[in-house]
Amino acid sequence: MITNKSADGASEASAGGPPVPGTDTVGDGPRTGEHAGESRESSAGAVGPTAVDPVDPDRSGVTGVARAGQGGAPVLLGQIRRILTLTVDDRAVRVPEGATILDALHSEGTAEQADTPTLCWAPNMNPINACRVCVVEVEGSRVLVPSCARKVEDAMVVRTDTEKVRHSRRMVLELLASSTDMSQASAEVQRWMTDYGVDPGRYGPPAPPAAAGERDARHAGHHHAPDGTTAATVAQPVKIDNDLYVRDYARCILCYKCVKACGTDAQFTFAITAAGRGFDARIATEFDNELTDSACVYCGNCIGVCPTGALKSVREHDLREDGEWDAESETVATTICSFCGVGCNLELHVQHGSIVNVTSPADHSVTHGHLCIKGRFGFQHVQNLPPENARSEKA
Ligand code: SF4
Ligand code: SF4
Ligand code: FES
Repeated sequence: MITNKSADGASEASAGGPPVPGTDTVGDGPRTGEHAGESRESSAGAVGPTAVDPVDPDRSGVTGVARAGQGGAPVLLGQIRRILTLTVDDRAVRVPEGATILDALHSEGTAEQADTPTLCWAPNMNPINACRVCVVEVEGSRVLVPSCARKVEDAMVVRTDTEKVRHSRRMVLELLASSTDMSQASAEVQRWMTDYGVDPGRYGPPAPPAAAGERDARHAGHHHAPDGTTAATVAQPVKIDNDLYVRDYARCILCYKCVKACGTDAQFTFAITAAGRGFDARIATEFDNELTDSACVYCGNCIGVCPTGALKSVREHDLREDGEWDAESETVATTICSFCGVGCNLELHVQHGSIVNVTSPADHSVTHGHLCIKGRFGFQHVQNLPPENARSEKA
């Protein structure tokens, strides 16, 4: 008997003979347990897609192994992956080939190792590798490596809590906090800043904010050095040019998540990208047009992944401006979008009986955390609040 490790980690014993190594589709000849002449469609119809992410099988929407009909033998989907062994802080850890170091820390690490800080990483996105706050030491590597993007190799030796690692993470968080407004970053990010002893104040008081549009007009290579008495910042007025979401780039840490969500990771609209160089780099639409004159389709997927509150719904922005934002009171109800038959899961974020935001779970097999304009913003018709209970409805 040969035991196969399926893509989702489940062991399956093949019945009646060995499987075909490396077979990752269900369209190229009978599998073990199938009868010659049996229609391929009879099982293909039951198993769905065949591309399996070994690290996160849910992302592919399949489990890696399916039954070929009632009483049939298992049909192996996805590639067979080797199990690699690495050493993390003197402890042996085993993960499937293709996993990143961060995957290994999340799935097999201690609580401290799993709490590795990240800013540009998200479970529903491909690694972007921009912020470098997740760095670890790898034996034999001249420099620290980003754990979110570096794939595990057999016999790799990783250290996650050395002085070099902690110093580097602190510097990343400190420089970001000295130049951007991190006050609306997630509670997790705030906790990491405390844990790593971040002190952005040591760079001096913040420089005055730029006027509206000033940073957008800067040309690469024309950055003027600060005078040394203040900390350079990206502070600037909030861009409000549509009814659905605002862009508050004084809070932007240039993690590129919005660019990837708008592009190849989810939406394929490519309405935004990074413009400029060095400290003048910023997220921009084509020709710095207002969103209403850009390619934006208002799916809000950029908002969904932004880690600092730089992108947020007009509704949230207005409530915060009016001092009515109450995150403590927020509850989340999960439902299914009623606009079409795709079946997207919606998470309705409710404060004081009023929907303030809509998101989707990152691990949902239909949405992978991403929505369209209707699911994200089309919720006013279900509010129907009596006037005495309605909060200011500006979105
Ligand atoms: S709302 Fe959608 S289309 Fe518009 S910039 Fe954001 S991700 Fe791109
Ligand atoms: S706007 Fe948000 S998601 Fe986009 S680069 Fe800035 S911080 Fe990242
Ligand atoms: S989280 Fe790894 S580089 Fe940003």
